[in-house]
Amino acid sequence: MKKNHTISIQYHSYLSKEELSKKDQLLLNKAVQLSQDAYAPYSAFNVGAAVQLKNGEVVGGSNQENAAYPSGLCAERVTMFAASANFRDVEMECIAIYAGSDTTAQKQISPCGSCRQVMSEYEVKQRKEIRVLLMNAGGEVWEFLSCGDLLPLAFDFTALKKK
Ligand code: THU
Repeated sequence: MKKNHTISIQYHSYLSKEELSKKDQLLLNKAVQLSQDAYAPYSAFNVGAAVQLKNGEVVGGSNQENAAYPSGLCAERVTMFAASANFRDVEMECIAIYAGSDTTAQKQISPCGSCRQVMSEYEVKQRKEIRVLLMNAGGEVWEFLSCGDLLPLAFDFTALKKK
């Protein structure tokens, strides 16, 4: 018997980061600052990201490209991998992501599929939502309360667990 299913997600949008908490603003500022140090000579598309950890630390990163194109990595994964590598079991509360290309000033950039998969993994691992803040060059911010909202029906490691 055929059944129909619908998945809907919610997110909040803000015209400017000033509408968010001071802590979120600082995290977004960090992402903006880090985007300036992106190593993106091939795409000239600079992305910065910063993860707020529960212990108060902030870990940041930016996209890192390579002459062998697929060897590069997006800002989100550089940042989340660094956070996990340096603070293994410290909870991630929020990731702020800034894509500042002039050509996309009014467009909101959101993480690619591979980054969503990685973000989702850490959220499932820590059993606590990680908020996502996206900001474009025009200053508009989108807030997702969970990485899972960006990847409904994600494949996760619980499927691999043996009995
Ligand atoms: N990129 C990111 O770092 N994050 C995104 O969310 C989208 C794309 C990077 C990858 C590559 O270095 C450049 O932007 C162009 O795709």
